[in-house]
Amino acid sequence: MRYQGREVDIEGRVRLVMESALTARDRVGVQDFVLLENYNSEAAFIENLRRRFRENLIYTYIGSVLVSVNPYKELEIYSKQQMERYRGVSFYEISPHIYALSDNTYRAMRTERKDQCILISGESGAGKTEASKKILLYYAVTCPTNDHMAILGDRLLQSNPVLEAFGNAKTLRNDNSSRFGKYMDVQFDFRGTPVGGHILNYLLEKSRVVHQNHGERNFHIFYQLLDGGDDDLLITLDLERNPQNYRYLVKGNCPRVSSISDKNNWKVVMKALPVIGFTEEEKLLNIIASVLHLGNTQFGEGEEGDTYITTETQTSNLAKLLGVDGSALREALTHKKLTAKGEEMISPLNYEQAVSARDALAKAVYGRTFTWLVEKINQSLALKVSKDSSVIGLLDIYGFEVLQQNSFEQFCINYCNEKLQQLFIELTLRSEQEEYETEGIAWETVQYFDNKIICDLIEEKHKGIISILDEECLRPGETCDVSFLEKLEDTVGSHPHFITHKLANGKTRRVVSREEFRLLHYAGEVNYNVNGFLDKNNDLLNRNLKEVMCQSDNQILSHCFRREEVIDQKRPEMAATQFKNSLMKLMEILMSKEPSYVRCIKPNDAKQPGRFDEVLVRHQVKYLGLMENLRVRRAGFAYRRRFEAFLQRYKPLCPETWPNWHGRLVDGVSTLVNHLGYKAEEYKLGRSKIFIRFPKTLFTTEDALEYKIFLGVNVCTCVFRCVVIVIQSGWRGMKARRRAKRRRQAAELIRRFIKGFIYRHEEYCPENEYFLDHVRYSFLKNLRQNLPKSVLDKSWPTPPPSLVEASEHLRRLHMRNMVIKYCRRVQPEWKKQVLFSSRLVFVNPVDDAEGCSQRDLQGPERHNACLCSSQYGVSVIKYDRRGFKPRPRQLLLTNTFAVLVDRTKIKQRIDYAALRGISVGSLSDGMFVLHMPTEDNKQKGDAVLHCSHVIEVVTKLAMMANKTSYVNINPGSIRFTVARGKEGIIDFIRGSELKVAKGKRGHLLVVSQRLF
Ligand SMILES: Nc1ncnc2c1ncn2[C@@H]1O[C@H](COP(=O)(O)OP(=O)(O)O)[C@@H](O)[C@H]1O
Ligand SMILES: [Mg+2]
Repeated sequence: MRYQGREVDIEGRVRLVMESALTARDRVGVQDFVLLENYNSEAAFIENLRRRFRENLIYTYIGSVLVSVNPYKELEIYSKQQMERYRGVSFYEISPHIYALSDNTYRAMRTERKDQCILISGESGAGKTEASKKILLYYAVTCPTNDHMAILGDRLLQSNPVLEAFGNAKTLRNDNSSRFGKYMDVQFDFRGTPVGGHILNYLLEKSRVVHQNHGERNFHIFYQLLDGGDDDLLITLDLERNPQNYRYLVKGNCPRVSSISDKNNWKVVMKALPVIGFTEEEKLLNIIASVLHLGNTQFGEGEEGDTYITTETQTSNLAKLLGVDGSALREALTHKKLTAKGEEMISPLNYEQAVSARDALAKAVYGRTFTWLVEKINQSLALKVSKDSSVIGLLDIYGFEVLQQNSFEQFCINYCNEKLQQLFIELTLRSEQEEYETEGIAWETVQYFDNKIICDLIEEKHKGIISILDEECLRPGETCDVSFLEKLEDTVGSHPHFITHKLANGKTRRVVSREEFRLLHYAGEVNYNVNGFLDKNNDLLNRNLKEVMCQSDNQILSHCFRREEVIDQKRPEMAATQFKNSLMKLMEILMSKEPSYVRCIKPNDAKQPGRFDEVLVRHQVKYLGLMENLRVRRAGFAYRRRFEAFLQRYKPLCPETWPNWHGRLVDGVSTLVNHLGYKAEEYKLGRSKIFIRFPKTLFTTEDALEYKIFLGVNVCTCVFRCVVIVIQSGWRGMKARRRAKRRRQAAELIRRFIKGFIYRHEEYCPENEYFLDHVRYSFLKNLRQNLPKSVLDKSWPTPPPSLVEASEHLRRLHMRNMVIKYCRRVQPEWKKQVLFSSRLVFVNPVDDAEGCSQRDLQGPERHNACLCSSQYGVSVIKYDRRGFKPRPRQLLLTNTFAVLVDRTKIKQRIDYAALRGISVGSLSDGMFVLHMPTEDNKQKGDAVLHCSHVIEVVTKLAMMANKTSYVNINPGSIRFTVARGKEGIIDFIRGSELKVAKGKRGHLLVVSQRLF
């Protein structure tokens, strides 16, 4: 059931209904007319509309129907934030809005999986098209989408300006009046993403192409093309910019309108056309231009009553634009083809006939192009995946229209509104009755006017006005509009809703002319002038004009004018019957969907903001059937809510239901209303809802709730305040006491410290005990963080006098500890090596007590053993030949060779015999180089060494090697061999401090003082 669906959100959760309509009632009228106490009073209804309109509250509900009053000004209620506010929110929770209706329809479609439709009605200029655009925009913005669907959404939105350019026009009532009916399906997939769209168009007001009433214009596109098209385009189309030059544009005498920017709208349309799949090859604009040229095609009368075209050049251009043969067109415009007894005859048209043939062609070309345009848009919106889709239909169709002179078009439009009203009554009543049935509540008959009688008058087969019109069009012999009127008088003259001048009594006769018939519509009386009825219903285009158009090389026109149409001798359906049939189909479509309604009201005829013309509004309230709607909706009960929602809201009012009711919901509601003293006639309990008859009952309950909340809040506030004060003062006192205590302790501490400092050299006594303890404590804490880390580190913090002895104790202890730790870390292998190398270096073989001999040793040790003959050993630093990295080595001299040893490993052996020279610098740097033969592959090059006893080493080596003459002293630099053929250089520079480092150009730079 619809109302159930309305109150349950997507997850099926019952929302807490905030009843904004109730709480806001005292401020600006009622948000829902069902809460009007005097729901039968039209004055109360209008007053409520007026009060809200004055506050820019343009939307009000009648149950689930949205009534909208055109504000004629931009209101800031359509932003994205507003859309978010209404998203997923229940109808009654928030102020009435077109977005609330859009959202509820969307959610109903998703949760109930049933197609929906939104019927927007109202008179011209009441805001129907704006409402439909807002609904579309709401879906485009809030529905889930993806890239592909975004393109579709864009097309849906872009199709609007195009349709408006071709199908809307300025009328006296609306500067942007839709001159066609539009029903648009938006298709959604199972995720709720819009996936496609389809438009059905109804009865374009084609007569506007050739004629406009005073103060009105032709369709927007003509003016847009002339104003916005660039010069080249106009030249190509052979057009001039001034609309005054075109007869079809000046009938209404207002080609320019200040509120319309044709130039800007042209740009919008040109931008939208490619989005919805239009190509330039289709030459749509040629057709628009050709209509203007047709309008300027003039005829002259020949002597024999025949006609000829006086605007020859115009016609040539026209033929070019239409893509047809010029002479064939000329002939078709001035002659007609007849078939008599199987023979074809051509007869000339008289002046009037030629003019009407021309106009018929213009209307046909424009009307068919419009239909093609809608088809084209439909192709671009076509649903790509059709599985499991749901639909929301939007009906934006012309509202009830009463002009000074009402013709065939108004007759069709008002007939359409009769049908919609019937559907509305039927569906609203049906849904109400269903609701009562579901809830098990007896239906109380509602008095309302059933307009079926008027629909029958118009559409009944054989007896209805449309049938009579068709008959008159088809009847052989002399027929004319007046004969049609007479036929009407004969056939439906006795109908209570039909009057003519002849049938009327004296008073009415004065307001119905002889050429008119009056229909008493549900919304009011309308006089229709029969002039033109037959022609318009016939909608005839001469056969030879059709033949010419079939041969057009314009893609659109050849699509619109089919050859079959010429060959087929069967007469096509008359315009009114076509319209009737399309309306029947529309009703079927709408009946198959769940409807929602937007009823638009126009507040004044001057299109002015802030003006509320009561007479005009009352008229619309009447013909929109809003009072009837309200009566049906109220049908005995003003208010209904599901038990959960009702109990949730009002449970604080009854001790048994507060805070929670654990029994059956219906019992809870029953207990609650009994406690509130509801009388039996004031309410009824259905199966899942409570129905309350009078708004007064509900308002009293609501007031009681507000009072309760007010009291509750007040009591809570008082108690809360007291508690807060007690806690605050207690807390502040405690904090102050703590602060004072801390201050006292700090002062005492400082006092003791100062006293201690004064007595620091005294024996340990109460005066200095705190200070000395503190100093000791500080020393130990500092010592703990600064203990030496290695045995070689001799640093130790200075102890205070009272701790000198203890400090020394600790130092020794710590040292011993470190030594023990170090020894524990020494591995047995390492111990052996240390022992061995110390022997190598320091033990003379002659004095070797342990008798290390070559015989006892094997392998590498045997090789090492040869070192036992070492005569002299010294620590040196060896510099790598390339990177000059310093490496600690032992240089050992034996009788025949020298070796460089790294711990126990011999790194280099230098035979004295091979030694080519010994170089030293002239400064006190300690550097010396042992030059080796380059051809000796075993040698790695010269040895670059440093020793603090360089003189001693060099002397010893030179003597032992017997090469004293090989010693060179080089003052500036020493060259040495790095490897075969490669050289290194040591540069010596005088400086205050010894420094050995890699210098420029890869040299080893030695900075040192002079030797002496
Ligand atoms: N909700 C609205 N807010 C602002 N202006 C509006 C609104 N509805 C209608 N209008 C104004 O009224 C004019 C006529 O509205 P429109 O929707 O074209 O009427 P209808 O389609 O019923 O003939 C619009 O051009 C616009 O200026
Ligand atoms: Mg409109």
